[in-house]
Amino acid sequence: MKSEFAGTTAQYYAEYRRDLPMEQVRALAAHIGLRADDIAVDLGCGTGQIAVPLATHCAAVIAIDPEPDMLAGLRARRAERVLCVLGDDHDLPRLSVPLTGPIGLVTIGNALHWMDERSTLSAAASILRPDGAIAIVTQGPPLWLGPAPWQTRVREALESLYGPVSGNCRTDQSALDERRAMAAGLGLDTEVLSWRAAYPVTVDWVLGHLASALSPHQLEKTEELRTLLQGLDHDEIVEEVTTTVLVARRGS
Ligand SMILES: C[S@@+](CC[C@H](N)C(=O)[O-])C[C@H]1O[C@@H](n2cnc3c(N)ncnc32)[C@H](O)[C@@H]1O
Repeated sequence: MKSEFAGTTAQYYAEYRRDLPMEQVRALAAHIGLRADDIAVDLGCGTGQIAVPLATHCAAVIAIDPEPDMLAGLRARRAERVLCVLGDDHDLPRLSVPLTGPIGLVTIGNALHWMDERSTLSAAASILRPDGAIAIVTQGPPLWLGPAPWQTRVREALESLYGPVSGNCRTDQSALDERRAMAAGLGLDTEVLSWRAAYPVTVDWVLGHLASALSPHQLEKTEELRTLLQGLDHDEIVEEVTTTVLVARRGS
């Protein structure tokens, strides 16, 4: 069965989902104490939004995803030291085999809500070296649930074509609190990091971004969506994105 991330979704994802900004990745790696000889694991890697910028901070990134089309998008980037693996959260324990370096970091970006959260955190913790960490990264609510007036207009346009669009992919404070308690219950030390970034965007970019979240069937209404969003370009439209990282660290 095809996943929600197959085909056009993966294609639009590769083009319209930003990488985690270099300065945020650098700050995360420094905060974790990621070492040059460490291996990082990026679970639910998509087309490499974390794996690619992270690879410059460690020996290698093992990028895992169950969707072949997402992995194909990542492979097409030809990033050095990124190893693409077709798998999912259930495959984490397999990484307890000897590797060429210790696993210093497991990142899960905008993806933990697709997994069994507790058993994934537990499996991730079990493969980390002493003092290694899990970083659960979210990047605010989906664009169409953001607070700016232009985002309200995007949400209204989507709802007029497809019905209610309320799912926030567990980007809210209660999900963060729940995950923090879950990690603490597994004996991990937790802390939360947060950064903000602002990106001027165009209607074309917004449409591409929305396409990365729409099914091929829903994509048939893209021109109607474009008509509903006409005029937005005349305003300065800026997307403010808050990156939140729950760091869950294994003791030494
Ligand atoms: C919203 S995308 C996030 C991609 C990327 N990490 C990012 O930050 O943009 C979610 C990814 O999780 C993957 N995924 C879904 N279920 C999964 C599972 N059980 N284990 C690992 N990855 C999964 C999907 O195939 C998809 O590529």
